[in-house]
Order: sequence, then C-alpha cells, then structure tokens
Amino acid sequence: MDFKSLHQKYVLTPWVAQASLNPPVVVRGEGVWLQDEAGRRYLDLSSGLVALNLGHGHPRLVRAISEQAATLAYAAPSLFHDKRALLAKALSDLAPWQEGARTFFAPSGTEANEDALKFVRHLTGRFKVLAAYRSFHGATHASASLTGENRRWPAEPGTAPGVVHFFAPYPYRSPFYTEDPKEETRRALEHLERVLLHEDPKRVAAIFLEPVVGSNGVIVYPEGYLKGVRALCDRYGILLVFDEVMTGFGRTGALFACEKAGTQPDLLCLSKGLSGGCLPIAVTLATEEIYQAFYDDDPTRAFYHSHSYTGNPLACAVSVASFQLLLSEPERYQSLETRHWQCQQQYLADLNNLKQFRTCGTIAAMELETEASYFSELVPQLRRRFIELGVLLRPLGNTVYILPPYCVTDGELATVYQAIRQVAIEVAEGYFTAASA
Ligand SMILES: Cc1ncc(COP(=O)(O)O)c(C=O)c1O
Repeated sequence: MDFKSLHQKYVLTPWVAQASLNPPVVVRGEGVWLQDEAGRRYLDLSSGLVALNLGHGHPRLVRAISEQAATLAYAAPSLFHDKRALLAKALSDLAPWQEGARTFFAPSGTEANEDALKFVRHLTGRFKVLAAYRSFHGATHASASLTGENRRWPAEPGTAPGVVHFFAPYPYRSPFYTEDPKEETRRALEHLERVLLHEDPKRVAAIFLEPVVGSNGVIVYPEGYLKGVRALCDRYGILLVFDEVMTGFGRTGALFACEKAGTQPDLLCLSKGLSGGCLPIAVTLATEEIYQAFYDDDPTRAFYHSHSYTGNPLACAVSVASFQLLLSEPERYQSLETRHWQCQQQYLADLNNLKQFRTCGTIAAMELETEASYFSELVPQLRRRFIELGVLLRPLGNTVYILPPYCVTDGELATVYQAIRQVAIEVAEGYFTAASA
C-alpha cells in the first residue's frame, strides 16, 4: 500500500505548510534510529519532539506497556489506581520541595500549563499572569496566549485575556543593551518589577517561565535571575510556575532545571520525557500548601477540571518504568554536555557561518548565519536536506538544535555533527536559493 499518498490525502500535518510535504514513512524505531518502509535508517537526533529520552523501543518500556495493557488500559481519572499512585509517589520523592509534591495529571504539556493557569487563578483570586517573550508554553488557547513568540500569532485574536509579556535576559542579543551578565540580570529584574507595578501586582496571580528556555534558542538565564524572580514573587504574593515540559527528566543535565538553578517554583509543569516518549502524559506538580487549599468536604471547593485520559494507566505504567530507568543511569544525561563540546571542537569550530554554539546538559544549539525567521522557506529546505543525509533535525528559524536520546553513542553523535557541518558549508556556498534564505 502507498502510505505516503494515503497520508498526503487524509492527514493534516501540524506546524508545516501542507503543499510539497514529503517526509519518510517511518515504520520502526530502535534506540536512536528510525527506519522507513523502504528500510532506510535515520538518526532521530531531536528525540521525536524532545520526548524520547530513552530512545525508541526500549524493552523495559515495551514490557511495562504490554503488561499494563493486558491488565487495565483505562481507568476514569476519579478512581484510585496503582500506577498513578506509584508514579505520583516517585515524582514527590524527587520534586524540588522538601515536603514532596502533589501530582495533577494531564495528557500533554500544553494542558499541564493550562491546568497550572487555572490553579493559580483559583488559588489567588487574581486574573493576570505574566510570561516572557521568547517562550513557548503550548498550542492550546491559554498556553498559546502565554507563549511569547510567533507561534502565538496564528491563534490571535482568540487568545486568552489577562496575559502580559515581559522581556527576560537574552545573552545573545540583549534586550537590555549590555553584555555583562550581572548587569543583564539587574536590568531584567528591574524591568520585570516595573511591568508588575504597571499592571498592579495585587492583580497578578503568577509568573510563568521556562527556567531554561527550550525551543526559543536554549537560553540559560544569567546567575541570579531566577532567584531574583522568585524574590519578586515572594514580595508581591505572586505564584511562580516553572514550565519544565521540555527541560524536565534530565534534559538539562540535571533531573530538573530548577534544581540546577537552585530556585523553587510553586508549581512545576512536566511532560515530554516522563513516559520515555512512549505515551502522552503530563503533570502539574504543586506544593502541599497549594493542595491544602482544595482539601475540603465542600464540593464547591473541588478543582473542577480534568481530561478523559488524565493519568491513563498505560501512560502511568510506562512512566514508572521510564523514571526508574532514568534514575538508574544518570551518567547518560550527565555526560552529554562534554560530548557535545568535543564534537563541536572536532567538526564545527572552523566554520564561520555557525555562531553562538551553546549547550545545556543534553541540548546543543547553534545559529546559522542567515536571515531565516521562523516562517522562512529556508527552514523546510534544511529539514529536507538533513533527511537526505539520514538525520532528523528540527531547525527553528536559523537555530539548529541537537536533542539526542540519552542512549546516543559517540559515533551517532559524530554523524549528526558531520551532517550539520556539511549543511552549513552548503548554506555558505549558496546551495539553497537566496530568495528562500
Ligand atoms: C516548554 C514547553 N512547554 C509546553 C510545551 C507543549 O507541550 P505539548 O506539545 O505536549 O503540548 C512544549 C512543547 O514543545 C514546550 O517545549
């Protein structure tokens, strides 16, 4: 059967222009590799959409899903369930709060953020929330409203009201006109406080932040910034929500980015790596103090919110197994930062059109010197070229990201760096049409 034609005829593919779409029809996955129907193999160096931390087809995860499927595949969110309880306990044990955490389950990262938004409004009785420019919080309406970049624009003007954006530090093109990280932190905090005062802090429920900015360029905030935001929140009685949908579960080289930054949020949203990329699941973790605000016999004080697949048993079972695997081999995600730098030195250091190489744990990113924006026609050309070279990468605008599953070998990592080298040279030599760049 011609699956490519079937797909082209019946599927609306997300995030991309539909005409002339031609990705491979993938049928198998093993470790870092995907295989198409013709048997051609591709290195999946984006970990799918940064979800596949443990690689494709891990036998322990396959077993966890099949055993759970044979036992109980669905349980209504209001019922108690063994794997939900086990997973919430495991998350509580490693949550950033000494007293542990309460888990609210959801099917996806965007919903975890929406849930957090409902929580903070419900808890504080305030309506406004602040979020940063250069952030992505999801594609559903409220999360798209939180999002501080052009993936929000197509949702406008239907986006949710009450969101105010501010500028956070951006070391590569400072919005605060400084190259000194200390000064960047000081000016960014002063700006944030000024925005708060202009909005009336008593009307602000929460500040949403990615503690390390993911798909907007891998931005590690300068020393002191997140702590400063925490202090501002405390000063004005505002809740701090960290969106670690992308950065959780080892992505930044620590289990959670907030742990690395030494800053505790009040709510923590997690998703992508939780099930090892096998099934959709997300969580909003809250402090016990927040949970207690809902602890009552009065039904009007319940949290009226959930989804049909919230805490799905299959997703919880595989997440319990994935979490155990992750914790048993921390060196896998801890070693990648050094390995990225070694590859950068070996394959990219001499190229003049690759700038601002940066890493954060398992993540590496770099900027191709072109004018490519998010909507540039160069981006699909680059993706297609990487596919021709047998590597699945998702450049966004002019930024190329490497987000490997943690089981990637040195040889596999070298292959992707060689592919990026080749594409960067081709860009410099004008291989791609000038009009599209
Ligand atoms: C930081 C962040 N938040 C939220 C989301 C949305 O998660 P999902 O795609 O599971 O809805 C993403 C997805 O890329 C993300 O990177």
